[in-house]
Order: sequence, then structure tokens, then C-alpha cells
Amino acid sequence: MKSTIAVLAGDGIGPEVIEQALSSLKAIEVRFGHQFQLNYGLIGAAAIDATGNPFPEETKEICLSADAILFGAIGDPKYDNDPSAKVRPEQGLLAMRKQLGLFANVRPVKSYKQLLHISPLKEDRVAGVDFVVFRELTGGIYFGEPRGRSEDGTRAYDTCMYSVEEITRITKLAFAAAGSRNKKVTLVDKANVLATSRLWRETVNQCALDYPDITLDHMFVDNAAMQLIQNPGRFDVILTENMFGDIITDEASVITGSLGMLPSASMGYELSLFEPIHGSYPEVAGLNRANPMAAILSMAMMLEYSLSMTEESACIREAVEKCINERILTEDLSPDNSYGTSEVGDSVARFIHTTAPANAKSH
Ligand code: IPM
Ligand code: MN
Repeated sequence: MKSTIAVLAGDGIGPEVIEQALSSLKAIEVRFGHQFQLNYGLIGAAAIDATGNPFPEETKEICLSADAILFGAIGDPKYDNDPSAKVRPEQGLLAMRKQLGLFANVRPVKSYKQLLHISPLKEDRVAGVDFVVFRELTGGIYFGEPRGRSEDGTRAYDTCMYSVEEITRITKLAFAAAGSRNKKVTLVDKANVLATSRLWRETVNQCALDYPDITLDHMFVDNAAMQLIQNPGRFDVILTENMFGDIITDEASVITGSLGMLPSASMGYELSLFEPIHGSYPEVAGLNRANPMAAILSMAMMLEYSLSMTEESACIREAVEKCINERILTEDLSPDNSYGTSEVGDSVARFIHTTAPANAKSH
């Protein structure tokens, strides 16, 4: 099969982890006889430096003509420390999400039994954790109008707004995912306070009628923040709006202790983007210290979600697990005896070539 992939490596450790994901892709290409055409685009600080725009028109075109997007990371300390900067890398990310219609951010959180000891939580709480967050990504307070300052500058406001349509489209994805998992959706909201949350409840309750085999429960976001620490094993699919999702996905990402292992997808109707959740981590950029596994697993998600290559995707996940079993790990997972970014990436690619045909199993 021939597919076109837009590759946006971005900033910080983005380029080096993407390089390793592409080396796994190359291994898949060879092993399964596929052809992947890679088209590279600029985004983030790298794009501002080159063009003045964090999401240039040319990058958008590259994305629109691709079957899927592989994204590294965005962000550079030179902008974080400059409140007067007129353009910021993050604007590129928000513009891309909105313009490409990437409305559902999907973040699986799964513990690996060989890595339980690195979790900040007690091992018995983390063992068996396997849930996925569906965060709405193009609505809510991130994009609502009006927003701004009063004329005298002493007041500021943002608007949180949601439509039934925006809620329905992500709800359908979340319920479909629950159908091939443990059949449970938890809607996280603040319906005791917010009108938008009450619309979410009403709409999601309505949608749930179409999925009689899925159990739906509701949880206020403050309680969800607590339950994620106390009893993360209780969750299967978490469905929530943009801002709550931003916060609880960061919380969720450290539960397993392995931020460097977690992939994500940002899904649209026709086009989806796949990215490691760890961000640009500029402190170790260029030092061959970053964990490439999240980027590699994001590639695995891409193969499954966007290109329907279930077996290929499972093959990558098995190669990653093999690396974990053989303790070929970067410093975040194994501080005392660690391998570099490229050594881990090479090992995964090697295992892709050599593992027995994958037992294809949906993620
Ligand atoms: C994320 C990030 C972004 C967000 C920032 C960088 C705009 O935190 O992807 O979660 O808030 O959505
Ligand atoms: Mn975030």
C-alpha cells in the first residue's frame, strides 16, 4: 500500500524522536512491502524563525494533501520567557488544530508491568491501569468569542462555548472506542456550575441511547482529578471538554511514571495527527537522551487509526515491549543503566524486522 505522511518534527527533541519513529516506519515499509511518501513541513519556533509564521500556509498544504500527520513537539524557551513576543509557537498548534478540524484528542494511558516501580503512585494502584482520554480539542474556552480586555484594561474575559454538534462528534468516537474496550465511558464535567457542562451531559446522555452495551457514568472534574490518583484503574474511556481535558491529561500522563512512553492522536473527520505527548523538552534537545518510544508508539497509532494497518501497528508495539523486556531504555526509565535515543530507536527497528508475525490486536 502507498501512503503519504506529512512529517512536522517541530522544536526541541521533536526532530530526534521523529527520526526514530521514521526508522521504525522504514522497518515496517520493508517488512510489509508498503510505500510511505514523506513530506516535511515546518511548524512552531522552527517555522517562526524561517517564515515568521508558526503554522505557515505551505505546511497546511502539506498536511491537507497527506493521509496522516506525524508531529514532534512545539515550544521554545526563548518565547516562554518573553511575554511581549507577538507570535508564539503554541499559536501554530492551536491554528493547526482549528484549521485542520482536529477535534478529538485521544490519549491512551497504559501501565507496563516492567515499569511499575517508576510510577509516583503505589505500584498496586498503577498495575493494570489502561484507559484512554477523549479530549475535545477545537472548542470551549480555548476558542470561544468574545475574548479580550475591557477598554480600561482592568478586566479580562474568555468565553466557554459548545454546540450540540461539537459535543456529538467526539462523543461518537469515544463510545465507539469503548465498544472495543471495557465498555465504559466516564463523562467528566462541571455540570453543578457550568451551562456548557449541562449541555455536555444532556447531549452525551442522548447519544448514549444509541450504545446500549456501553455504561455511561458522570464525574465532576474536581472529583475526577482526585480519582485519577486514588483509583486510576477504575477508568476505561474518559470523555471531556477542551480545558478540563488539557488539565487531566497532564495529570494522567504521569500516573504510569513514563511520560516518555505515551502517544496521542488528534483526530478529524478526514485527517488525523499523531504526536508524543511529552512536548519539546528543550533541556535535552540534541543530546541523544530523549525517549523515542512515545513518538514510535504515535507512529503505531497512526498506522492503525489512519491507515488501517492493524498488524503493522501491533508489530511496532510488540517491538517496543521487547525493548522494555530487554531493558533497552532511555534515562527517564532506567537512570542507572541507560541507552541513547538512537540506540533505543535502532533496537525497536531491529525488533520490527525480527519479531514473529504480530498477533494483530487492536489498541
Ligand atoms: C497540549 C498543550 C497545548 C494545549 C498548549 C501548548 C497550547 O498543553 O497539547 O495539551 O493547551 O492544548
Ligand atoms: Mn496540555
